[in-house]
Amino acid sequence: MTRPQISSVTRLVALGALASLALSGVASAAAVDPEPITFYGDVAAVLQQECQVCHRPNGANLGGMVAPMALTTYEETRPWARSIARVVASREMPPWDASPEQHGLFANERTLTQEEIDLLVNWAKSGAPAGNPADAPEPLEWPSEDGWLIGEPDLVLQFDEPYFVEDDVEDLYIYFKTTITEEMVPEDRYVKAIEFRPGSSVVHHIIVPGLGGIAPGNDPVIHADGLADVLRAGRDLQWQMHYHKEPGPGTGKWDQSSVALKFYDSEEEVKHKVFNADMGKYDFAVPAGATDYTIQTEWTFPTDSEIVSYLPHMHLRGKAAKYEAYYPDGSHEVLLDVPNYDFNWQTTYLYKERKKVPAGTRVLLTTVFDNSAGNLANPDPTVTVRWGEPTTDEMSYGFMAYINEENEGHVAFTSDEGGIDLTAIVAMADESRDGKMQLDEAPGMVKQYFEMMDENKDGAVDMEEAKAANAFLAQMAEQRERAEATAAGAAGGE
Ligand code: HEC
Repeated sequence: MTRPQISSVTRLVALGALASLALSGVASAAAVDPEPITFYGDVAAVLQQECQVCHRPNGANLGGMVAPMALTTYEETRPWARSIARVVASREMPPWDASPEQHGLFANERTLTQEEIDLLVNWAKSGAPAGNPADAPEPLEWPSEDGWLIGEPDLVLQFDEPYFVEDDVEDLYIYFKTTITEEMVPEDRYVKAIEFRPGSSVVHHIIVPGLGGIAPGNDPVIHADGLADVLRAGRDLQWQMHYHKEPGPGTGKWDQSSVALKFYDSEEEVKHKVFNADMGKYDFAVPAGATDYTIQTEWTFPTDSEIVSYLPHMHLRGKAAKYEAYYPDGSHEVLLDVPNYDFNWQTTYLYKERKKVPAGTRVLLTTVFDNSAGNLANPDPTVTVRWGEPTTDEMSYGFMAYINEENEGHVAFTSDEGGIDLTAIVAMADESRDGKMQLDEAPGMVKQYFEMMDENKDGAVDMEEAKAANAFLAQMAEQRERAEATAAGAAGGE
């Protein structure tokens, strides 16, 4: 084996470096013998700022995602030093999936600066020393176990009875009701903040139409001053629960999840109701083994608006999501890019300063799916995956919350052809979760056309039939327009 030769150039450079080091050593002793990075002196402050919201006793339970250990004291943190260095260097922690391009835009961003990453990595490398307890920052105060992150709520709702999730359950989708009495909500209330609390560790997600919900990784909703969701008086809440656990003897658990609400004192304080541009697709099929199956949905703002937040939603094959704006002046902008979507972190991306968009702005949502064996989260790469509530089926959905001056929401669920999207109606109405809408599930208006839509006469409307009905409606609309144009032309010619 030949010994590597040190070239004279290398030697010269090395000498120069030594010389400048010696020089700076004269100028400042600290550069030669830097103060060691210690837990109390440096690390504790970063952990407080960036980690303890989850990593503490009774840490934030973000929809079932509970951090496995506390990082509050030196004793707790020391054994994790190397793991900490690894997960911050790879940017797995803190969890935040948006591309760096959107850095600084969102109020709830969880990212570390390069200096913070270096500090944690170098601390671990140097043996994770404690330092002097006298240098420690004041410990942070966190709400107690039964405290709420949104503060003292005005109303806490639970479903009417606790429910036992049996031992043999792996995935269970089930509905509960909370009766809202006159006494509880005598008139429409304007909701300032919403915090869901899973009643047990087997809760995977909760959806309560009208109030939102939580999936793993969600923060509570706290609206900016003047913005509100509306809780209608006397309308019962429906809880759509998804329980998920390893099945087996002794794994059963009781659950009675709850939601805490904070209201505005009066309607006068409310400047804007918050609406959601439901962007979803329901009639797709992701082929087995596909690595980059792409689905797109559009929404055009009818009036000048301000976007409040986004929440892309897919299941286990979800790989990436992107919201893009096409402005009426022809320009284009990426609003949110999530290049590595992680089902475990259903993050709402909440603007620091709301995004103003003029009327006519078209937003394109692109979701990408990996249904191959290369996707380690994929429960079965050999099957075609369609729309469905279970995590083993898929969703292509993007929440986009917005406000406008008119304080009016707009018909969501528009099909590619521009009319109302009947596939979305079927998806929403399908309470029995068999992928079809039965007659008794159909909303009033749709009941009338049920028989027409049910082409194969099996007593239910499936996605294919709904899709055909979309095309039919669009054709009708076009014919009507043409007839009107002809009529107008004839009238003008007289
Ligand atoms: C939003 C909540 C949240 C924040 C903020 C957060 N973590 Fe985590 N962390 C979790 C959860 C939940 C897990 C376990 C699930 C997982 O690994 O995804 C975890 C896992 C970890 C692990 C891996 C433990 C293991 O079993 O290997 C380390 C190390 C870690 N976090 C360090 C940190 C550090 C350091 C910070 C701050 C710079 C941080 N986390 C911020 C929630 C959080």
